[in-house]
Amino acid sequence: MKKLALFALPAALALALSTTALAADGKAVYSDNCTKCHGDDGKGATKMGAKLGARDYSDAAVQAAFTDDQAFKSIKEGMKKDEKTLMKASELADEDIKASIAYLRTLKK
Ligand code: HEC
Repeated sequence: MKKLALFALPAALALALSTTALAADGKAVYSDNCTKCHGDDGKGATKMGAKLGARDYSDAAVQAAFTDDQAFKSIKEGMKKDEKTLMKASELADEDIKASIAYLRTLKK
Protein backbone atom coordinates (compact mmCIF):
# COMPACT_ATOMS: atom_id res chain seq x y z
CA MET A 1 0.00 0.00 0.00
CA LYS A 2 2.74 2.41 0.99
CA LYS A 3 4.66 1.51 -2.15
CA LEU A 4 1.66 2.23 -4.35
CA ALA A 5 1.16 5.63 -2.79
CA LEU A 6 4.78 6.49 -3.43
CA PHE A 7 4.43 5.61 -7.08
CA ALA A 8 1.19 7.51 -7.49
CA LEU A 9 2.45 10.65 -5.82
CA PRO A 10 4.73 12.02 -8.56
CA ALA A 11 2.04 11.49 -11.19
CA ALA A 12 -0.59 13.22 -9.09
CA LEU A 13 1.80 16.05 -8.40
CA ALA A 14 2.70 16.49 -12.05
CA LEU A 15 -0.98 16.59 -12.99
CA ALA A 16 -1.76 19.13 -10.28
CA LEU A 17 1.13 21.32 -11.38
CA SER A 18 0.24 21.25 -15.07
CA THR A 19 -3.43 22.10 -14.51
CA THR A 20 -2.45 24.91 -12.13
CA ALA A 21 -0.09 26.33 -14.73
CA LEU A 22 -2.84 26.32 -17.36
CA ALA A 23 -5.38 27.98 -15.13
CA ALA A 24 -2.81 30.52 -13.98
CA ASP A 25 -2.09 31.57 -17.54
CA GLY A 26 -5.69 32.35 -18.32
CA LYS A 27 -6.00 34.13 -15.02
CA ALA A 28 -2.94 36.28 -15.75
CA VAL A 29 -4.21 37.19 -19.20
CA TYR A 30 -7.63 37.96 -17.78
CA SER A 31 -6.19 40.06 -14.93
CA ASP A 32 -4.05 42.08 -17.31
CA ASN A 33 -6.57 42.60 -20.08
CA CYS A 34 -10.12 42.09 -18.95
CA THR A 35 -10.66 43.10 -15.31
CA LYS A 36 -10.80 46.80 -16.15
CA CYS A 37 -14.26 46.18 -17.57
CA HIS A 38 -15.34 42.73 -16.44
CA GLY A 39 -13.93 42.92 -12.90
CA ASP A 40 -11.88 40.36 -10.94
CA ASP A 41 -15.05 38.38 -10.27
CA GLY A 42 -16.47 38.73 -13.80
CA LYS A 43 -19.46 40.67 -12.57
CA GLY A 44 -18.63 43.75 -14.60
CA ALA A 45 -19.09 45.94 -11.53
CA THR A 46 -16.32 48.32 -12.50
CA LYS A 47 -16.53 51.92 -13.64
CA MET A 48 -15.86 50.95 -17.26
CA GLY A 49 -18.04 47.87 -16.99
CA ALA A 50 -20.99 49.89 -15.76
CA LYS A 51 -20.49 52.54 -18.41
CA LEU A 52 -20.33 50.01 -21.24
CA GLY A 53 -22.97 47.66 -19.89
CA ALA A 54 -20.81 44.60 -19.17
CA ARG A 55 -22.96 41.65 -18.12
CA ASP A 56 -22.54 39.57 -14.97
CA TYR A 57 -20.43 36.55 -15.90
CA SER A 58 -20.89 34.92 -12.53
CA ASP A 59 -24.48 34.34 -13.75
CA ALA A 60 -24.86 30.91 -15.38
CA ALA A 61 -27.55 32.21 -17.76
CA VAL A 62 -25.21 34.92 -19.05
CA GLN A 63 -22.44 32.35 -19.56
CA ALA A 64 -24.86 30.09 -21.42
CA ALA A 65 -25.76 32.88 -23.83
CA PHE A 66 -22.58 32.55 -25.87
CA THR A 67 -20.28 29.75 -27.03
CA ASP A 68 -16.51 29.76 -26.66
CA ASP A 69 -16.24 30.30 -30.41
CA GLN A 70 -18.54 33.30 -30.27
CA ALA A 71 -16.61 34.72 -27.34
CA PHE A 72 -13.36 34.20 -29.22
CA LYS A 73 -14.69 36.07 -32.25
CA SER A 74 -16.05 38.92 -30.11
CA ILE A 75 -12.73 39.37 -28.33
CA LYS A 76 -10.57 38.91 -31.42
CA GLU A 77 -12.59 41.19 -33.70
CA GLY A 78 -14.07 43.45 -31.08
CA MET A 79 -17.69 44.07 -30.24
CA LYS A 80 -19.87 47.01 -31.20
CA LYS A 81 -23.38 48.06 -30.46
CA ASP A 82 -24.67 50.62 -32.91
CA GLU A 83 -21.72 52.97 -33.20
CA LYS A 84 -20.47 52.39 -29.68
CA THR A 85 -17.42 50.17 -29.23
CA LEU A 86 -17.99 47.73 -26.37
CA MET A 87 -14.73 45.82 -26.71
CA LYS A 88 -11.87 46.83 -28.93
CA ALA A 89 -10.41 44.15 -31.22
CA SER A 90 -7.84 42.40 -29.07
CA GLU A 91 -4.17 42.23 -29.98
CA LEU A 92 -3.67 39.18 -27.79
CA ALA A 93 -2.41 35.92 -29.30
CA ASP A 94 -5.17 33.41 -30.10
CA GLU A 95 -3.92 31.09 -27.35
CA ASP A 96 -4.13 33.89 -24.79
CA ILE A 97 -7.65 34.79 -25.85
CA LYS A 98 -8.69 31.16 -25.48
CA ALA A 99 -7.02 30.94 -22.06
CA SER A 100 -8.79 34.09 -20.88
CA ILE A 101 -12.16 32.68 -22.02
CA ALA A 102 -11.42 29.42 -20.18
CA TYR A 103 -10.69 31.47 -17.08
CA LEU A 104 -13.84 33.56 -17.51
CA ARG A 105 -15.79 30.28 -17.58
CA THR A 106 -14.47 29.46 -14.10
CA LEU A 107 -16.05 32.63 -12.70
CA LYS A 108 -19.54 31.18 -13.20
CA LYS A 109 -21.15 30.54 -9.84
C1 HEC B 1 -13.19 48.15 -22.59
C2 HEC B 1 -13.89 47.21 -21.73
C3 HEC B 1 -13.70 45.72 -21.98
C4 HEC B 1 -12.54 45.00 -21.99
C5 HEC B 1 -11.13 45.50 -21.72
C6 HEC B 1 -12.92 43.64 -22.27
N1 HEC B 1 -14.27 43.55 -22.42
FE1 HEC B 1 -15.33 41.86 -22.82
N2 HEC B 1 -17.00 42.98 -23.12
C7 HEC B 1 -17.13 44.31 -22.79
C8 HEC B 1 -18.50 44.72 -23.01
C9 HEC B 1 -19.06 46.10 -22.72
C10 HEC B 1 -19.17 43.61 -23.55
C11 HEC B 1 -20.65 43.54 -23.99
C12 HEC B 1 -21.54 43.34 -22.83
C13 HEC B 1 -21.31 42.00 -22.25
O1 HEC B 1 -21.54 41.01 -22.96
O2 HEC B 1 -20.87 41.90 -21.09
C14 HEC B 1 -18.21 42.52 -23.57
C15 HEC B 1 -18.48 41.24 -23.99
C16 HEC B 1 -17.67 40.14 -23.71
C17 HEC B 1 -18.04 38.77 -23.93
C18 HEC B 1 -19.34 38.26 -24.54
C19 HEC B 1 -19.11 38.00 -26.01
C20 HEC B 1 -20.36 37.62 -26.76
O3 HEC B 1 -20.20 37.28 -27.95
O4 HEC B 1 -21.47 37.69 -26.23
C21 HEC B 1 -17.00 38.01 -23.47
C22 HEC B 1 -16.91 36.49 -23.46
C23 HEC B 1 -15.96 38.92 -23.03
N3 HEC B 1 -16.41 40.20 -23.19
C24 HEC B 1 -14.75 38.55 -22.53
C25 HEC B 1 -13.67 39.42 -22.38
C26 HEC B 1 -12.33 38.98 -22.14
C27 HEC B 1 -11.90 37.53 -21.90
C28 HEC B 1 -11.56 40.10 -22.11
C29 HEC B 1 -10.06 40.19 -21.95
C30 HEC B 1 -9.27 39.46 -22.94
C31 HEC B 1 -12.43 41.24 -22.32
N4 HEC B 1 -13.70 40.77 -22.50
C32 HEC B 1 -12.04 42.57 -22.33
C33 HEC B 1 -16.13 45.13 -22.33
C34 HEC B 1 -14.78 44.80 -22.26
